[in-house]
Amino acid sequence: MKRDLKKLAVLTSGGDAPGMNACIRAVVRTAIYHGVEPWGVRRGYEGLIDGEMEPMPTQSVGNIIHQGGTLLKTARSKRFMTVEGRQQAYQHLKDQGIDGLVVIGGDGTFTGARTFNDEHPDLPIVGVPATIDNDIYGSDFTIGFDSAINTAMRAIDQIRDTADSHNRLFFVEVMGRDSGMIALHAGIAGGASGILVPELKSDYEEVISLLEGGSKRKKYFSIVVVAEGEEQGGAFEVARKVGERVGDDYDIKVTVLGHVQRGGAPSCADRVLASRLGMAAVEALRQGESGVMVGVQHDQIVHTAFELALRNDTGLNRGLLRLAQVLAT
Ligand code: F6P
Repeated sequence: MKRDLKKLAVLTSGGDAPGMNACIRAVVRTAIYHGVEPWGVRRGYEGLIDGEMEPMPTQSVGNIIHQGGTLLKTARSKRFMTVEGRQQAYQHLKDQGIDGLVVIGGDGTFTGARTFNDEHPDLPIVGVPATIDNDIYGSDFTIGFDSAINTAMRAIDQIRDTADSHNRLFFVEVMGRDSGMIALHAGIAGGASGILVPELKSDYEEVISLLEGGSKRKKYFSIVVVAEGEEQGGAFEVARKVGERVGDDYDIKVTVLGHVQRGGAPSCADRVLASRLGMAAVEALRQGESGVMVGVQHDQIVHTAFELALRNDTGLNRGLLRLAQVLAT
């Protein structure tokens, strides 16, 4: 059923991701195209609770498509986890006459959106998946993932130069508290000897035997990529454990890439994805949708209920894991 949308609000929430700005731009410009008045909420759900919102004319999103971060700012809101916080946020939206909300973020953002939607079904909400972790069910890719894996890959390439020059073993920690997607993709692209991810039990013996295999073929340096959520708690701990086993045979170093992966200009793929999903979100609201996330599957726009999107079982691609193992031998 088509909805007569008049005034929508857009916010970004949770960890920032390259491409969020391109998405805000697409939401604002699509809204204006359809005669809908777009408003921007600052600092995610925190700003919504405090009523920090203002109209966004088309020029407010000029010259941002190439910028990382989010012009609306973002936050991880504890207050939005309370009934009182959500009630306050709802009241501000009602007072401003907002009749549709677009939330751009990851699983925390959609958890909040789902509860908000259950409590206030008269206020339609559509989500857009934006997180460098690429761990949302219902979209093949999330906004920011492609940029983050390219940043991580470039860093691994640079570490490779110094690892090679000094014959060193590097453990490179990438982001992903619950998801090994960044580790897997950046590890394969960076030619890693081993990749450790939160989804699987870490097998140090396998890492050691791959390293030993490398030294037999006179490859004296190695790079092992470790996701931050790896079961032992990250690259330092893995380096310590492996170090205990291999003794002085290797000169071991650890590099933690950290928030470097969240910043920087979005890649071409992320700008296009963000633009598509931003437009799709506004069109979903106009079509009468609510409580869903827009995503891309097999290059088609799809809608997934928040509940499903939060299932948290995107599943690591076993084929890619095997590829990494085979190519490291
Ligand atoms: O969800 C994105 C992410 O970058 C994760 O990979 C990481 O574990 C987390 O956010 C870090 O969050 P914060 O910047 O709040 O410490």
